[in-house]
Amino acid sequence: MKSIPKFSHRACLAGIAAVGISVSVSAAAQGAQEPVKNSYLPVTDSETFAAIHSRMVAAKPDIMKRQMDLLQERYDLSDRPASGVVMDRAKPVQEGVRVKLPQGVTWNQLAGQMPDQIRDQGTFPKGFLPLPHANHPEGGMVFPKSELDELNRQEARDLTRFDLDFDIPERFLAEFPPAIYLTTRPDLGDVSQGKLITIENFYDVFSGILNPKQLEGLRLLLTPFPQQQFNQTNDRRSDKPSRGVACFDCHTNGGTNGAFHLVGDIRPQEFRHRIETPALRGVNIQRLFGSQRALKTVEDFTEFEQRAAYFDGDPVIATKKGVNVLERGSQVHFMAEFQEILDFPPAPKLMWDGKLDPKLATPAELHGQEVFFNKGRCAECHSGPYFTDNLMHDLHAERFYKQHMENGMMMARDGAIKTFPLRGIKDTPPYLHDGRLLTLDDTVEYFNLVLGTKLTEQEKKDLVAFMRAL
Ligand code: HEC
Ligand code: HEC
Repeated sequence: MKSIPKFSHRACLAGIAAVGISVSVSAAAQGAQEPVKNSYLPVTDSETFAAIHSRMVAAKPDIMKRQMDLLQERYDLSDRPASGVVMDRAKPVQEGVRVKLPQGVTWNQLAGQMPDQIRDQGTFPKGFLPLPHANHPEGGMVFPKSELDELNRQEARDLTRFDLDFDIPERFLAEFPPAIYLTTRPDLGDVSQGKLITIENFYDVFSGILNPKQLEGLRLLLTPFPQQQFNQTNDRRSDKPSRGVACFDCHTNGGTNGAFHLVGDIRPQEFRHRIETPALRGVNIQRLFGSQRALKTVEDFTEFEQRAAYFDGDPVIATKKGVNVLERGSQVHFMAEFQEILDFPPAPKLMWDGKLDPKLATPAELHGQEVFFNKGRCAECHSGPYFTDNLMHDLHAERFYKQHMENGMMMARDGAIKTFPLRGIKDTPPYLHDGRLLTLDDTVEYFNLVLGTKLTEQEKKDLVAFMRAL
């Protein structure tokens, strides 16, 4: 192994999913030659499954330790539920700012400094930096344990990876399973019956509530299809050959379970963003899909997700692993129609204009609303009844830090990201496209610093109270 020193080079030799590696095998072996730039994954198997398996199982403890050390360094991961605030059914909402401050500075001191001063001192809180994948050089889909266990129980389908575990503690994820609200039947409230909807139970739960076209769309959203890490070739990350993944393995019940992978569009590997699954609730009122890709319809995203994102944007490897090409008229449209009736959760305190009903809201929530629309400047992007302008914005957070590597990921600029809607926002932690912020309190400190709004402690607190009411 001497001639192939870095992890990513070994990954390349193994014929696995680390993509965008800039050094070819022969150049690595010869050492001195000019690196050959390359966008493709290796197609030939150059190592047996048993060899890949034992090598990666052996490497896993160190890799997970490296990632958990990074999370510990960045965040306070302790269990501190907010009293009296729960998600759809009963899961407590975690409270407090969880991003750790560097030694010797306070949030107010930072908010009073110029971005280049913070950059030069290196005092930008690390939790505000891009979040690396649990193993960034390797990437791929990773699912939380609650999802793995329930899929195993219902479908005997195991999405456990032998090389990696999920990293963020489950108390910072959405409730599992989340409720399902339908725009077509608001009278019914949550139609999930508290179950994880799978291919096993969807018919009993939804026949008589959906039309046949939506029902067929839902069936397809629950049907597993081959993907980069879960497929029937030897180039996979499950112990046994796998039937693949379903859309709702991540978009659980049309919401999210926090599953993550790397965005398919960027090369080389270290520049790719970790992306955390967004809820599909309310896609009907949105106009841009994907945090950066900005596809224009749910139909397009549905088609793209399975054909391209499942395979890191590489159609060559997709063919090898058995990509399922969806037919646009009879399948993609049906799947999109079901997604487009997934509603945001009810917000009983909001009126038709998306403003709080003063008869129902608390003084703290009303004050938070005032800050959101004025001094906090939030509504300049989070506008209208769903709190999104349906645009993308570049927040230029890189003004505060120098580009550098952490755990195999380049802490580079994010670029323009879509304004995610804030309806039902307390139900879908963690926050931002990569899930780098664990609580709503964190998002307030983040925007206060990035926007330079200099909010007081009371204003920050009340802004959190307001967002919990949306
Ligand atoms: C690994 C889990 C995973 C699976 C499986 C998955 N998605 Fe996604 N989905 C994501 C992530 C992560 C994003 C965010 C993409 C981005 O930021 O570019 C996303 C984004 C979306 C969006 C856009 C949402 C928005 O707010 O912009 C739609 C629509 C969508 N997925 C539908 C699907 C469909 C349909 C399938 C099945 C064909 C599917 N997804 C399978 C994780 C997943
Ligand atoms: C310049 C436009 C802009 C302003 C002003 C703005 N936001 Fe955002 N907001 C965004 C964008 C863009 C994202 C997505 C960023 C990402 O995912 O990296 C976002 C994401 C969020 C999220 C996380 C959404 C999710 O689903 O993960 C929250 C919460 C939020 N903003 C709250 C606020 C608050 C509170 C304020 C005011 C203090 C504010 N925003 C001001 C553009 C803005």
